[in-house]
Amino acid sequence: MAKKFDVLVIGGGPGGYVAAIRAAQLGLSSACIEAQAYADPKGEVRLGGTCLNVGCIPSKALLQSSELFEQANHSFVMHGIGLDNVKIDVATMMRRKDNIVGQLTSGIRGLFKKNKVVLLPGHGKFVGRDEDYWQIEVAGASGSKIGSEIVEARHVIVATGSVPRHLPGIPVDNKVICDNAGALAFDAVPKRLGVIGAGVIGLELGSVWKRLGSEVTILEALPDFLAAADQAVAKEAWKVFTQRQGLNINLGVKIGKVSLGRRGTVTVEYEANDETYTLECDKLIVSVGRLPYTEGLGCDNVGLQLDERGRIAVDGQCRTNLENVWAVGDVVPGPMLAHKGMEEGVMVTELIAGQAGHIDYNTVPWVIYTHPEIAWVGKTEQQLKSEGVDYRIGQIPFAANGRALGQGDTTGFVKMLADAKTDRILGVHIIGNNASELVAEAVVAMDFGASSEDIARICHAHPTLSEAMHEAALAVDKRSLHF
Ligand code: FAD
Ligand code: NAI
Repeated sequence: MAKKFDVLVIGGGPGGYVAAIRAAQLGLSSACIEAQAYADPKGEVRLGGTCLNVGCIPSKALLQSSELFEQANHSFVMHGIGLDNVKIDVATMMRRKDNIVGQLTSGIRGLFKKNKVVLLPGHGKFVGRDEDYWQIEVAGASGSKIGSEIVEARHVIVATGSVPRHLPGIPVDNKVICDNAGALAFDAVPKRLGVIGAGVIGLELGSVWKRLGSEVTILEALPDFLAAADQAVAKEAWKVFTQRQGLNINLGVKIGKVSLGRRGTVTVEYEANDETYTLECDKLIVSVGRLPYTEGLGCDNVGLQLDERGRIAVDGQCRTNLENVWAVGDVVPGPMLAHKGMEEGVMVTELIAGQAGHIDYNTVPWVIYTHPEIAWVGKTEQQLKSEGVDYRIGQIPFAANGRALGQGDTTGFVKMLADAKTDRILGVHIIGNNASELVAEAVVAMDFGASSEDIARICHAHPTLSEAMHEAALAVDKRSLHF
């Protein structure tokens, strides 16, 4: 007889594994199907999806190592610390990254065990429905030891994530021309690194290899830099990345022919400002966005509806067009962020359990882990302008913050936008050291519907970077105390 579950999750990334665990916590029988072995040394299926294996976690590990190298080379000296001949051992750096990934992915296996979530290794595919139960085939890859079985579930949560978008005529081999997977596993610092796309991956991974010594050229199709960020932040970031850090970022570029040379190099022809250019590099990263992944999911077998961009169509609570079939994470509309997928996973399982699952999409934070970090929540100034909202601004530079001075890192600012009439906080934009952590205060405040006055009246520890948030709130009312 087929195994039967209350909740069956297809995909073990952040959206999926969190949903499976929460379902079990809520007393539902829960299983998770995962297909990918990623780079597991034993060839076992690995949980954690893109985020843990080839995304958030390995990229942040490399960002940390490369930032320390950068500091040892350039920042220690201001503290009177002299180091000669600082070297980077790429193999050790990569081993450290792989260990962190291994620790976290096996940690999720442990969490599954502890919560009694059944892991079903293999590829999940809708095959039909029998009365109240969806029937899903779980199949091993051809040649693998895993056979094929049909399992049944009352509720199915699709969390199949996304895959990198590749460009026609640019063959990604993950050796010379790489997407995120290859770009996180270079075995040496490339002398010349080309990057197509000045988005989040391009900037984060471009920064890693620039700090380690590569000459980095980024080619971006759009005429504007970081168009989704608040323009004051984008302007500051442009200045720091191009002038201070030496990232060579070209905007408004049209990519032409890309060819592999005989010596393992790559040549990119591109147009900009009506001129044709050629970029020679030793490695090329293609980071031009990601696509929702539904291949082999059997959507047609059951009539699961996709939207015009190939994402699974869902309502505001992640319900698909099929009864008791839900979808979360990168495979549905919205920002492709791990924490957004996790929150959706929790919301859906709580709804299944009859609770009031909820997610506030207006307060999903964004972080770009460059140095300085960039983080924001809520509306940008340009969005408020285009929506005709009357707002007030409070902006405080880290140069006016004692802790930032002590840390020797005063780049950037905190910018708070509040409704001119009600004073409710509408957006907070940070560029600076630790912006990723500082933004959490703004998220909490906005989730609780706080005004700038609320933050202004809260005692912030001294000396901390968070005082810049406090001062920005005071500055909304033009009563900043330290600037
Ligand atoms: P995924 O993580 O893509 O997981 C989906 C899983 O489903 C995969 O493991 C896949 O093998 C499996 N699967 C697919 N189809 C099937 C099937 N039919 N049967 C069985 N299994 C299947 N986000 C952040 O919030 N912060 C960051 O710092 C960050 N950094 C990133 C850095 C990089 C380089 C990249 C590429 C992404 C980064 N992201 C980051 C984005 C983040 O990784 C994704 O938003 C997140 O992984 C999405 O989670 P998910 O569960 O929806 O999908
Ligand atoms: P992205 O959407 O952030 O950036 C892609 C960039 O490529 C855009 O600026 C786009 O204009 C440009 N582009 C598109 N086609 C092009 C072309 N033909 N030629 C030149 N440029 C072109 O996507 P990216 O960087 O690939 O990352 C994918 C997603 O992964 C992100 O959108 C984000 O959701 C997630 N991510 C999140 C991170 C974080 O939270 N810190 C870190 C890395 C990725």
